[in-house]
Amino acid sequence: MQSQWPNRGALDNGAFASGTLATRAASVLARGVSSAARLRSEPLILTGAYGAYVEDTDGNQFADYVLGMGPMLLGHGNQRVLEAVRAQIDRGVLFGTHPNEIALAERLTQIFPFADKVLFVNSGSEATHSAVRIARATTKRSLVVKFEGHYHGWLDPLFINTMANEPAGPLQVHPAVVSAASSIPVPDNICVCRWNDIGELTSLFEERSEQIAAVIMEPLPLNFGTMFPDPGYLEAVRDLCTENGTLLIFDEVLAGFRVALGGASELLRVEPDIAVYAKAIASGFPLAFVAGSNAAMLSITSGPLMPAGTYSGSPTAISAAHATLDILELGGGPLYQELDKLGRRVAQGVTRIAEEDGVPLVANQIGSIVQLFWDPETPVRTFADGMKSDRAAVAAISEGLLEHGSLVSPRGLILLSTLHTVEMIDDLIDGLEASTRKWVTENSGGRGSARE
Ligand SMILES: Cc1ncc(COP(=O)(O)O)c(C=O)c1O
Repeated sequence: MQSQWPNRGALDNGAFASGTLATRAASVLARGVSSAARLRSEPLILTGAYGAYVEDTDGNQFADYVLGMGPMLLGHGNQRVLEAVRAQIDRGVLFGTHPNEIALAERLTQIFPFADKVLFVNSGSEATHSAVRIARATTKRSLVVKFEGHYHGWLDPLFINTMANEPAGPLQVHPAVVSAASSIPVPDNICVCRWNDIGELTSLFEERSEQIAAVIMEPLPLNFGTMFPDPGYLEAVRDLCTENGTLLIFDEVLAGFRVALGGASELLRVEPDIAVYAKAIASGFPLAFVAGSNAAMLSITSGPLMPAGTYSGSPTAISAAHATLDILELGGGPLYQELDKLGRRVAQGVTRIAEEDGVPLVANQIGSIVQLFWDPETPVRTFADGMKSDRAAVAAISEGLLEHGSLVSPRGLILLSTLHTVEMIDDLIDGLEASTRKWVTENSGGRGSARE
């Protein structure tokens, strides 16, 4: 589908944002943005979005591969979703428990076989925070295991050992988890382990199994890496948790509804005790939820915890979710196959550039998600492999795409929607080739600038 905006062609200068607005933003918004994921080397201020495009203050349109950091799986301006929200606004914006909320919870427990209960909240961070609190209260244990580089939002205590808030800088390692690989415990009873390393997790369980309330992970690490678990790894983690009375939490905030209707647990055929979802479920409206088995959710269904939150279960967000689910269910397998085809086209384009130009540009791809690397350890199957990538190069090449009409986040994460087309992907690859060549020319002699 084409954007209804006319394509005004290539940009003729580098002025991507109104200088005045950028200055005003810097003076009154923390760091000039409301979310660090929007930071770029040049401020970019957008006035609107339609279809698979966004528009900046100078009227330039860019093919959008950021998609609001994931929620806009159906692209911008989906009429079915917007009509559902408009209709709900006419019936009331916020008033109490409502039929659609109950119906959505029922629908979700059908989609996720492991889930008996659903708790609606407003953001992914709130959902992961709630899941950990529920797991601690249910198991009456306090230790939580997370994995290197996995991002679970920006709330305590999970916001450690993640690079999500530093688009191009060095990884900020929490001082207490410098030796993350050896699972040193840190304040708030969090241990950090290497993902895809069952030996390390097993040793930790041997030492401290009676203290471990939960293991939380991105089953498909998408915030950095876009990696599949090694065969058998998730199953082994599942077994360790079951044997030790520990709850397994999947953070599917980015993967949920994007990699499959049933998310990563459907794709990988491993069931968590609790999972959290957000982003794509409500096409840009703030909705997140925790889903879990009766046993795992005991502390919040009949135990000491009480659900709370003024906006939780907001009728407008719930109606957006119903409409989004209608579309995803109608599209079914073919919708996800099409997304995967587009994703593969991007990855193949990257491989072609690498081969033809002899440059260490690498892509990991899972369905509609592609992560770019520059000179990483290949194959990239762990956080450490990905961290060998030259992130400054990825940021420069990704940001350089703006000159070629495509908006990609500086961390090189390319997100696709159902409105992206083969032609758009081909333009993206042409732009990527040009941007890569420019970076290599400007940095010739730099690390991995071209292969021998
Ligand atoms: C895997 C994962 N967990 C949690 C979060 C936090 O979600 P939110 O930004 O809605 O708080 C994100 C956001 O990018 C995410 O990708």
